[in-house]
Amino acid sequence: GIKIATIGGGSSYTPELVDGFIKRYDKLPVRELWLVDIEEGKHKLEIVGNLARRMVEKAGLPMKIYTTLDRREALKGADFVTTQLRVGLLDARIKDERIPLSHGMLGQETNGAGGLFKGLRTIPVILDICKDMDELCKDAWLVNFTNPVGMIMEAVNRYSGRKKAIGLCNVPIDMQKAIARMLNRPLEEVYITFGGLNHMVFVTGVYVDGRDVMEEVIDLWGNQSVKNIKGIEWNKGFLKQLGVIPCSYHRYYFMGKEYLEEAIEHYKENGTRAEKVKKIEEELFELYKDVNLKEKPKQLEQRGGAYYSDAACNLICSIYNDTRDIQVVNTVNRGVLDELEYDEVAEMNCIITKNGPVPVSVGKLPKAVNGLLQQIKSFEIAGAKAAVTGDYDKALLAMMINPLVFSQSHAITVLDELLEAHKEYLPQF
Ligand code: G6P
Ligand code: MN
Repeated sequence: GIKIATIGGGSSYTPELVDGFIKRYDKLPVRELWLVDIEEGKHKLEIVGNLARRMVEKAGLPMKIYTTLDRREALKGADFVTTQLRVGLLDARIKDERIPLSHGMLGQETNGAGGLFKGLRTIPVILDICKDMDELCKDAWLVNFTNPVGMIMEAVNRYSGRKKAIGLCNVPIDMQKAIARMLNRPLEEVYITFGGLNHMVFVTGVYVDGRDVMEEVIDLWGNQSVKNIKGIEWNKGFLKQLGVIPCSYHRYYFMGKEYLEEAIEHYKENGTRAEKVKKIEEELFELYKDVNLKEKPKQLEQRGGAYYSDAACNLICSIYNDTRDIQVVNTVNRGVLDELEYDEVAEMNCIITKNGPVPVSVGKLPKAVNGLLQQIKSFEIAGAKAAVTGDYDKALLAMMINPLVFSQSHAITVLDELLEAHKEYLPQF
């Protein structure tokens, strides 16, 4: 049987994961699922843990759910470790989104100044988990969903010895589902290539029945978006010239002004996305408490990360069974994307083997997106370096090379305010 340890187990997303493991039990016999959280998350952890127990019981499976605050005990002998933690909880996200916005910058949890700070808070924790894993479950795989996934995986790759680590996001699977739906085909009949970075990934090709249908898909593509980002329509002429399909998050760069205005409007009426998520979470936990609830509730689909368990559980299942099917993950690109260095992390199609993901060719990205790609990659690297050193100037460098910041004086103000606001979670500074 398999032992899984999930760090940040009290997350409202956990029923997704449990649902994914239940569905795949035949192929992926998870005998022990350890949900780990911290003292402040204890209450949520118990609610989610009990729901997980009811789900497993209803399915009639011998999967044991453990809830604990002892991370080391959970890691001991684990086969897979998943990370879905949020340092500072949603209150920290509110600050990441509000403070930049109050200085005229897009406030976002994984992009721009907010994304940098989420990285600064999270990277030391993830590196600590890597250290514990080396001691307690050396051969386990780390599957990280914690944002910002790109920066975190860059940090794991550069500053931990851990090679068995994979970053995951639901954006590719979301786009796959949208494309299959618009082509009226089941997912399995459509082959899609993805290349780029996390939250900066492009569809580079779509194939059905041995035919290249990319042009057709570009024609149909417009306002599709993940739940957390308003889907402002892409201009057709622009997409055709670009020749690849941008993901939802690209809108922050190619339509920065629109999204800044949108964020300001949204803020006036509803507060930040984080505040909205806080409300959704409260509702979700009310539902989770209901002892008659024995499955993942529909309402979970209001969250931007809906369906992430499909990505996570498919990945774990394919590693375990050495399936060698193709999935989109974040890993060292090994020279396959020639825009990036050999050992830089990319989000791309990979063959999933028991030895890990092996990147496959996804074609070439157009010159028109290369500048942005390089800029975000260097931002991820600079952010990771700032996180491990706790050096103020290195953090300023990361801020100033981010295209959503575009001001030296505001960069300094926002950096100082965020350092102050988050100081209890930034011991390295
Ligand atoms: C997306 C991203 C996730 C992110 C989520 C935010 O789908 O891929 O990485 O965490 O949205 O959603 P939320 O509901 O928390 O705003
Ligand atoms: Mn994501």
